[in-house]
Amino acid sequence: MSIKITVNGQEYEVEGGGWLIDTLNALGCDIPHFCYHPGLGPDGNCRMCQVDYVTDRGARLAISCNARVSDGLNIVTDSENVKRARAAVEEFLLLNHPLDCPICDKAGECTLQNYYMQHDMKDTRQEFKRFKKRKARDIGPTMVLDQERCVLCDRCVRFLRDWAGQEQLHIAGRGHGAFLTPFPGKPVDSPYSLNTVDLCPVGRLPARISVLPYPPGSSREPRRRVPPAREDVRSRSIQRTRPFTA
Ligand code: SF4
Ligand code: FES
Repeated sequence: MSIKITVNGQEYEVEGGGWLIDTLNALGCDIPHFCYHPGLGPDGNCRMCQVDYVTDRGARLAISCNARVSDGLNIVTDSENVKRARAAVEEFLLLNHPLDCPICDKAGECTLQNYYMQHDMKDTRQEFKRFKKRKARDIGPTMVLDQERCVLCDRCVRFLRDWAGQEQLHIAGRGHGAFLTPFPGKPVDSPYSLNTVDLCPVGRLPARISVLPYPPGSSREPRRRVPPAREDVRSRSIQRTRPFTA
């Protein structure tokens, strides 16, 4: 059913009932998001997709991934309020993020990097040491886990649980100490585990084998990713396709 909504002062006739973030993106607004994915639905944990909802009582910030498109909505996506909220979310995500970009497999196609350039672009104000988490953790035959790079968007957890039917990852701990981890003593060995590498908006799950000859943007000679792939994996043909950016 067609309904009318207002976006940035302009009225549009759109299909009602879908997720607001999809409609705004279809209208060309390019709403930043980490945890939302059209195939996984909303989770509401990253807060990056905030927009202003304008009502009689003024504008208020709220996330757009978990709201349905309904008649009469009045949305502003580029107010100062929205820009400040996006910059603040990005700054929080980068608080303890390692400075790995020069060696990260995802550099050049990393959502966190792109959003930093688009919405933050500030030097750090941090005066204390970054919180350390485990790096290059062996979690299964196809990939390793870098807990410091993870932005805890929960996409990989939801994909394995809801689509692959194998709950093999979860987020443990709280606050700045929260971290992504497999279950104790259980490897991540789902045949769909490599899909999570492509779903991940950052480079926290480097695949042990890549069909990319060298990291994007690099002029160096082709190299193998670290840590070295196991024999059994190397002999099989594991392929990465370009990620579906959403
Ligand atoms: S590993 Fe990637 S997909 Fe999984 S929760 Fe962390 S950032 Fe999200
Ligand atoms: S994309 Fe909406 S809260 Fe993460």
